[in-house]
Amino acid sequence: MCGIVGYTGTGKAGSIIIDGLKKLEYRGYDSAGLALQNEGKVVIIKTAGTVAALEKIYRGNCLTAKTGIGHTRWATHGRPTEVNAHPHGGCSDDLAVVHNGIIENYKLLRSWLIEEKDHQFRSETDSEVLAHLIEEYYDGDLLAALRRAIDEVKGSYALAAISAREPGRIVCVRRDSPLVIGLGKSENLVASDIPALLNRTRRVMVLEDGEFASITAEKVEIYDAGGKPVEREILEVNWDLEAAEKGGFAHFMLKEIMEQPVAVRETLRQRIDLPSGKVDLSELAMDTGEISRLKKIHIVACGTAYHAGLLGREIIENIAGIPVDVEVASEFRYRRPLLAEDHLVIVISQSGETADTLAALRLARLRKVKVLAVTNVVGSTIAREADQVLFTWAGPEIAVASTKAYLTQLVALYLLALYLGQVRKDVDPALALDLVKGLLELPAQLEKLLADEKLEKLRAYSNHLACWDNAFFIGRSLDYPVAREGALKLKEISYIHAEAYAAGELKHGPLALIDEGVPVIALVTQKVVLEKSLSNIQEVKTRGGAVFIITRDDFGDLIRQEEAVFTLPPVGDLLAPILSVVPTQLMAYYTALARGSSVDQPRNLAKSVTVE
Ligand code: M6R
Repeated sequence: MCGIVGYTGTGKAGSIIIDGLKKLEYRGYDSAGLALQNEGKVVIIKTAGTVAALEKIYRGNCLTAKTGIGHTRWATHGRPTEVNAHPHGGCSDDLAVVHNGIIENYKLLRSWLIEEKDHQFRSETDSEVLAHLIEEYYDGDLLAALRRAIDEVKGSYALAAISAREPGRIVCVRRDSPLVIGLGKSENLVASDIPALLNRTRRVMVLEDGEFASITAEKVEIYDAGGKPVEREILEVNWDLEAAEKGGFAHFMLKEIMEQPVAVRETLRQRIDLPSGKVDLSELAMDTGEISRLKKIHIVACGTAYHAGLLGREIIENIAGIPVDVEVASEFRYRRPLLAEDHLVIVISQSGETADTLAALRLARLRKVKVLAVTNVVGSTIAREADQVLFTWAGPEIAVASTKAYLTQLVALYLLALYLGQVRKDVDPALALDLVKGLLELPAQLEKLLADEKLEKLRAYSNHLACWDNAFFIGRSLDYPVAREGALKLKEISYIHAEAYAAGELKHGPLALIDEGVPVIALVTQKVVLEKSLSNIQEVKTRGGAVFIITRDDFGDLIRQEEAVFTLPPVGDLLAPILSVVPTQLMAYYTALARGSSVDQPRNLAKSVTVE
């Protein structure tokens, strides 16, 4: 995710664009930049800091330009440095481009432009290739050059460009990344999202996939992929600014839960080859020899990321056959863990800044053990200090309660397990192919799950839950870590004391706590222990517990007769945890709503825990 804003009109383009970028910082905030048409040139200002830092630099320049484009970045290809910040220019200072998305074939295009066309590149980004391609094809019409460039490009993009030779004009195009056009009085704008437009206008047009637009102060023209003009309906937006920043959702947490299909799709993108079923993680710095010699893996993380690690252990041991230990970072860092050179430490961290996880990383490196980081933030301290990084592409996560980042951490661990298993030739190719196909189906399954009318059932049970001060989550096998994550989410935002138990442990103590109406959420997605899980549910029900079951569609009538049941689309045992956690996230959300607690910023907690 990144945020784009373009403006052309009679106002001061720089200030208007910066104002718009501030409203898009939820889409990324590691670097920012601005390109303005100024006295026959395109002037580019950028910084490795936030939009506020960009504003300071802009105020120091006397630029009265009326047309420009801006960008706030969430780094994907290339670290969050000034040179990698957008806008990107070509070889001359004639043109600038801002881009949100991923250009999959940029390496090929870049080599062609350098070797055959003598272009000189400055940054490490995939996006810069767009500026050089447009420059290469420019022949007096920016839209025509953009069209030719886009013909060559594979991937996802929302893109806006300006040229010094066409004053007052912005051209843009989109595929799989959003763009909206705002219609003002003697001014028009383009942006990644509506909040960036609301200070100037409430009249918007949505650009559809594959469409191009040419925007001047007086005119907006939209064309389809074939170049035919398109009539687009004008929408009147009546959201207030706060609602608009959350994409119309009441809270960032709900928005981020709903973004999970896209986050999973992005994390899988370009890492799987079909029909071979091969996982390609050549982005990692481990050669075949190192992978084959691996004797043990230690996963270290905190909170939700630790729960991803608990599942990581099951996944890696199952698929790649390598023994795995999992530990919370605050404990690991003060022990003398038994580490050896043929071990690998995996640290998992959404923010890449968690102090305990970072300390664990440093301890491992001091002990000469290679560290692989699974993180969501390019350029974070953990990403920089690890020997190798497997990025999750969840986009910025704003709500303190982690949801989409957790799901992408799981996906990254499945990919890693498959990759290690395939390199070591320890995974049965048929099983690998099955899993790979299952992974690719997840985004569609998540979309279905999140649109399900059954969500009402979750809401109804959450209203019951909201009246209690204690709740229990139970599950066996791979359901147990999911139960732990469900309990953490509930306590974090609803302040209900929630505990998770391996269902088989109930009789060894916790069953004493079950009484009439006590809420118990049971995860039942593992075929191997289905009968056992059902018996544990009976034990709870006999004592009056109010059980809510999260299970799979294909577990049949056995469970379906129950009233409080949420069923998941058909999914195998190994992949079930990716789907089964979603109803627990929603349940925590609905319960917090019912109790009136602060969903996005729970008391006493912070998004990034950079102190011990
Ligand atoms: O940024 P990190 O993934 O390292 O953060 C780790 C935990 O602080 C984090 O997962 C925390 O438990 C979440 N707020 C839970 O929703």
